[in-house]
Amino acid sequence: MRRKSKSVLGIEGTAWNLSAAIVDQSRIVASAESPYHPTYGGLHPRAAAQHHASQIERVIRDVLAEGERAEISAVAFSIGPGFGPCLRTVATAARALSLSLNVPLIGVNHCIAHIEIGRWLCNVKDPVILYVSGANSQVLSYRDGKYRIFGETLDIGIGNALDKFGRYAGFQHPGGPKIEETAKNAKHYIPLTYVVKGMDFSFSGLTTAAKDALAHASLEDVCYSFQETAFAMLVEVTERALAHTGKEDILLTGGVGANTRLKEMLNTMCQDRDAKFFAPDKEFMKDNGAMIAYTGLLMLESGATLPVENSAVRPNYRPDEVEIGWR
Ligand code: ATP
Ligand code: FE2
Repeated sequence: MRRKSKSVLGIEGTAWNLSAAIVDQSRIVASAESPYHPTYGGLHPRAAAQHHASQIERVIRDVLAEGERAEISAVAFSIGPGFGPCLRTVATAARALSLSLNVPLIGVNHCIAHIEIGRWLCNVKDPVILYVSGANSQVLSYRDGKYRIFGETLDIGIGNALDKFGRYAGFQHPGGPKIEETAKNAKHYIPLTYVVKGMDFSFSGLTTAAKDALAHASLEDVCYSFQETAFAMLVEVTERALAHTGKEDILLTGGVGANTRLKEMLNTMCQDRDAKFFAPDKEFMKDNGAMIAYTGLLMLESGATLPVENSAVRPNYRPDEVEIGWR
């Protein structure tokens, strides 16, 4: 008889996408989600947490029903970074589930999970990583037991910048995908604020400049110019990290990674440098339960479980604080 493979149930809920998945050593066994999209304005932490609280029982029931044959060896949850009220809601459910299944609890760093699911699905060993999402924008690479941050945003994440400008321009949240669509019909490039300082970048000046530009330019041209400017900053820093580390692969991850123009610009840079460009399917670049379950499995195998009494959430948890025991 074939031995059952170890599997981990992971729950993600740092911000908008309450989601859960069961992953074993070879595949994603089951998944369920309940995305939260505000009908008006941006993402409010308490409103998102209320949504998570009302949906978490169903999401966990669904994932357990779909993965009924899996033998769950641990429960993993996103412990941070993210919105405090959302993190606490998910952590409470994860603790209860780990106690009732009588299996260990694992607290996963959300940023590390975005990276590890990408490395797994793209089968890439040691890339320079561009992690671009709502709240986060970082260029990272692994060295001596940790993912080091080579460069990052000095103010807001690129996704938040896009969403903020999008709301101002009249798009419903999240603005990122609508800006991408609108940019396709642009006719002119308008110079906007470009800020790279050392290896870091900044997006709030660009957001203000784009809002101001709407007074004299078309929405299509401003959306296009916003993307070209912001993505050029990200590609510049990623290219410098590649040169500095001597690595040969780039991995793109995070919700903004769904953007076709960003992928095209990274791909062109990689071709010029003889580097290889990797990006997982966009289902796995945005927030998802599988990334938490898979990273939980790596942590379980390296012994990084968490006693319930030490499982307080960490809203400002940075990826370079995590000891990477599995590489
Ligand atoms: P994190 O905690 O990692 O910051 P997050 O909560 O922001 O995660 P993600 O799903 O990783 O969640 O990213 C969401 C962001 O991705 C939103 O800001 C959204 O506008 C942006 N986004 C999604 N699709 C696109 C797209 N096609 N082009 C640009 N931005 C996009
Ligand atoms: Fe995310």
